[in-house]
Amino acid sequence: MTETRRRPLAELRSQRWYASNDIRGFAHRQRSQQMGLRREEFLGKPVIAILNTWSEMSPCHAHLRDRAEAVKRGVWQGGGYPVELPVLSVGEVMVKPTTMLYRNFLAMEAEEVLRSHPIDGAVLLGGCDKSTPALLMGAISMDIPAIFCPAGPMSTGRWRGVTTGAGTHTKKYWDELRAGRISDADWVDLESRMTRSIGTCNTMGTASTMTSIADAMGMSLTGASSIPAADSAHPRMASACGTRIVEMVWEDLKPSDLLTRQSFDNGLAVYMALGGSTNAAIHLIAMAGRAGIPLTLSDMAAAAAKIPVLADLFPSGGHLMEDFWFAGGLPALMRKLTPHLALDARTVEGRTLGEAIAGADCYADDVIRDLDDPVVPLERGRTLQLLTGNLAPDGAVMKSSAASDRLLKHRGRAVVFDEPEAMRRGIDDPALGIDADTVLVLRNGGPVGAPGMPEWGNLPIPKALLKQGVTDMVRISDARMSGTHYGTCILHVAPEAAVGGPLALLRTGDVVSLDVAAGRLDMEVDAAEIARRRAAWRPPPQRYERSFAALYQRHVSQADRGCDFDFLEGTSAVPEPEIF
Ligand code: FES
Ligand code: MG
Repeated sequence: MTETRRRPLAELRSQRWYASNDIRGFAHRQRSQQMGLRREEFLGKPVIAILNTWSEMSPCHAHLRDRAEAVKRGVWQGGGYPVELPVLSVGEVMVKPTTMLYRNFLAMEAEEVLRSHPIDGAVLLGGCDKSTPALLMGAISMDIPAIFCPAGPMSTGRWRGVTTGAGTHTKKYWDELRAGRISDADWVDLESRMTRSIGTCNTMGTASTMTSIADAMGMSLTGASSIPAADSAHPRMASACGTRIVEMVWEDLKPSDLLTRQSFDNGLAVYMALGGSTNAAIHLIAMAGRAGIPLTLSDMAAAAAKIPVLADLFPSGGHLMEDFWFAGGLPALMRKLTPHLALDARTVEGRTLGEAIAGADCYADDVIRDLDDPVVPLERGRTLQLLTGNLAPDGAVMKSSAASDRLLKHRGRAVVFDEPEAMRRGIDDPALGIDADTVLVLRNGGPVGAPGMPEWGNLPIPKALLKQGVTDMVRISDARMSGTHYGTCILHVAPEAAVGGPLALLRTGDVVSLDVAAGRLDMEVDAAEIARRRAAWRPPPQRYERSFAALYQRHVSQADRGCDFDFLEGTSAVPEPEIF
């Protein structure tokens, strides 16, 4: 390890608040003592913010109030002064219309809370889907030392002998209920048994995808993302984050020192090997945009074409995060992925990724497969497939590893819904003539259209087809899909319908062709007819004139560009606050 320089105290930004011998410095010291702290407890120490996304509406983060105490223990131990600062929770299931509407808002809040207070370093407590990219986007833009402390996945659920994973099995049993294969009483019983503990979804949904990516990029203590929320290792990890962040402040080890193109490539490699959520494609582009690193959907598709799914986890495989932890977790997976990783990328631990995973053994080769024995071979399916064509000129994505073989090359008649309520009313209507080969389309679910790009993309299969045993169909939308779901769902169509993307011009009865191997998604409508429809198209009315949604609609970028706000992208400096 290289020798690191220790910064003098006077260089810490908190000193601007605390060290001056004037009326302002007096007020800052006085107000800290107002909370019962002695001068020697906080003066002359790095001030560490614990940004906490705890709330009682976010079950995935229900333990983060306690974990903040563990972080504080570590910070005191390391010689720092910890302060817990609450930020927006963005709990995935309760927040409507969608947490994606609030990702950028949390990113702004994280950045501004760090900037406006006397903070030298930050421990970021989050994990439920959007909270990870949001906290990281804020920390990247603020660029002071920061460690991401993941909430950890919930314990394995079991119902009547069957292992049940959050999200994946909710959807599966909902279809079983609609097909009449389980009873209403079964459904109620299932409700209380699926989610056994605090923590994030235990499948390889968006939460574990993003926390694992952050881990692989060097923003967490290596392997932290695999520790189950309810395991005693979890508070020990949180405490270690507290001690380490104090050292990082003295070393001045910032996100900009860690997040290089190489670390993003490491994040991509892990994303693909995990069979991670399609949502990560949006978040990674947004994070890279904040770090000033060009990253495109094509870069991601290229990584997916090289790296097969190795982690046998729902929805691509058959295990849960607790099995992954017992198998050796992310370090074991990364060790198997070594040929695809930049091992000299650095981590928050102050060492290289190669050093961090050197001794990582795998204890269950059926859960974490070898590169020559993947869960899904590359010929069969990928974590991320990019599709372009006259329906998606700027791209659409799908997880072909969680799709059906028979649908990967498909032509079918489109049935188009303009909004989810119309879909709910129409999906079981026999008059629409929907059969197993129909291509179901939902539009106006994009970043501007919905707004906020909700997880509407796993369109329901009509009841009559479910009863016949049909479990998958080609479904297309400009919305997103939960990372815990599966099926032949084409998502993130860009440009979206609401801004005049060609999806807006598709009509029920048109033929849509999908060729996953060729990376194509087209409507078989001739150019002259498309032009006629375009001339007649009018944008849908905007429902929001005020509120955060109105701001969002005005400034959000399209899915292929990461859905960040135009005024937040890039690395241009924001001045430090004046202290008067
Ligand atoms: Fe929070 Fe899935 S709902 S991680
Ligand atoms: Mg999710």
